[in-house]
Amino acid sequence: MKLVNPHPDPAPRLLASSQALPTHGERETAPCARWTRICDIDEIPRLGARVVRRASGPNVAIFRTSEDKLFALADRCPHRGGPLSQGIVFGERVACPLHNTCVELDSGCAVAPDKGRVQSYPVRIDGGAVYVELEAHADVHG
Ligand code: FES
Repeated sequence: MKLVNPHPDPAPRLLASSQALPTHGERETAPCARWTRICDIDEIPRLGARVVRRASGPNVAIFRTSEDKLFALADRCPHRGGPLSQGIVFGERVACPLHNTCVELDSGCAVAPDKGRVQSYPVRIDGGAVYVELEAHADVHG
């Protein structure tokens, strides 16, 4: 199923804190930042991921931890490009299914002794809907 949203919401409303789930990987939002609605949080399994397939740029995996924290990373392991979305989520890390490289979900950095980093993307929740800022491509390191 293709999840590319042709009608991105450029400015999702903020929720009252009592309604908001924890968000992680958020950064200051640039004035021209674009947030794309991906799905409802219930559509992402706990300790699992959902993949956003993109027409251009890497696919993005949105991970949900056991504590309902969300993170978004390029779905490409820093080792040899394995699908991180199919890895095992534990704590705030994911283990790649191919050769077991562990990646920090918040930064996209491989855990030592492994090396490398994948792009991370800001994620936010609005009324149970998950938004990802897909335009943030800075800070990519191999
Ligand atoms: S491709 Fe992920 S550990 Fe090798």
